[in-house]
Amino acid sequence: MNRLIVISNRVSPPMGDGPGNQGGLAVALSAALRESSGIWFGWSGEETEAFTGHINFQRSYGVTTATVDLEAQDVEEYYNGYANCTLWPLFHNRVDLAEFERGFAGGYERVNDRLAETVAPLIEESDLVWVHDYHLMLLGRNLRTRGVKNRIGFFLHIPWPPARLLESLPGHGELFDAMLDYDVIGFQSENWRESFIRYVQTHTDATIDQDGTITLGERRTRIVVCPIGIDFAEFHEAANGQTAREFYERMQRSANGRTMIVGVDRLDYSKGLPERFLGYERLLASRPDLHGQLFLLQIAPPSREQVRTYQQIRATLDSLSGRINGEFADAEWVPLRYINKGYPRDALAGIYRASRIGLITPLCDGMNLVAKEYVAAQDPDDPGVLILSQFAGAARQLTDALIVNPYSPDELAEAIDRALQMDLKERRDRWRSMMESIRNEDVRWWQACFTKALAGGQHEPLPEDRP
Ligand code: G6P
Repeated sequence: MNRLIVISNRVSPPMGDGPGNQGGLAVALSAALRESSGIWFGWSGEETEAFTGHINFQRSYGVTTATVDLEAQDVEEYYNGYANCTLWPLFHNRVDLAEFERGFAGGYERVNDRLAETVAPLIEESDLVWVHDYHLMLLGRNLRTRGVKNRIGFFLHIPWPPARLLESLPGHGELFDAMLDYDVIGFQSENWRESFIRYVQTHTDATIDQDGTITLGERRTRIVVCPIGIDFAEFHEAANGQTAREFYERMQRSANGRTMIVGVDRLDYSKGLPERFLGYERLLASRPDLHGQLFLLQIAPPSREQVRTYQQIRATLDSLSGRINGEFADAEWVPLRYINKGYPRDALAGIYRASRIGLITPLCDGMNLVAKEYVAAQDPDDPGVLILSQFAGAARQLTDALIVNPYSPDELAEAIDRALQMDLKERRDRWRSMMESIRNEDVRWWQACFTKALAGGQHEPLPEDRP
């Protein structure tokens, strides 16, 4: 087995067995790293006065992490700037929010180069190198210029934008060209792969084979679709554990017979939260008979708080939630519980199970694992209903959710109403079919799917491609 070197902006060292706060991605990568005696490299999340490239190695639960501190200017230009003010909005269809500063692009190039310089000496001859997400699109190129000849793969966790949008990024051609230094590029969904291929066709002379290999000059890059899944076994254990049970019971008591609808999202403009609130407001306005019968619990932990657009979306939601409660609440009932803090995953599992409806309506989302966790946490005898945006990568797999257009308040209101009325048989049928893909295409399947392609093998076809 080849050793795996995982490189990502954030590094989450494993926290031991058992369910808790750790994300599914960390759990899956930790398992793969442990089995291959690999290394997980990235930014420590800390700042230093002057970049030294000093690596802090740590070993916990059989996994070695290697992290470096970045300068304040690096964090500003690379993380807050190019990654989260330029690429993130552009890749989520929000060119109106994107900032195209040369300083940001320069910081991004500098940090990708610094990280490559630091990690290159750790890479041994037969290692497989796996780079993650939009923060590090140039890293493969920077490793190649340092003579790294290993197989290097890149997985994009977020959408790939339509070619017409990407054209608004100064230097998009160079960014794309650097990506062809990867041997394999993975996407979450067929939609993003199609956009990528369309960009290749309209902006380059590259050829594309039947199996999705792009050839440009001497370089060959294999394109694969590997949707990320949840750690099904771990989440199932969490959902049946003590903390989940406690939260389930607490929520039941607090709901006091009212139907609970839940949404859980990082506080991000791509998640469609104002639109979701407006859809819910539309339902409340048109259905006074529902007043006092239901409530929406929206959990939205703050994210990227240094970035202006995130401060703005927070202010928008503060005002909208205040308006909705001001208009519809009465002395004994609050229709919207809007919370700006996060909960551990095992607590969330209990909250999901207590909710009759999971309302996951991003305007644009690479995958959305909350949708999968909501389904996995349900009681098989009496499962809730998932309402899912057509613009989440997860909608390609969870076709038995109630799929909605998240921009339409009327569609959202109708979908909630339909979910409230759905009989037990239909709820069970839909839930069973969604569970099948969540169980089969879990996070280990995703990791195996990508690393197999990276090692040079055939990657596993998705169910929709299977004969
Ligand atoms: C998305 C990105 C990840 C990122 C996460 C949290 O899921 O695809 O790469 O780590 O958001 O964002 P943050 O900026 O806090 O790392």
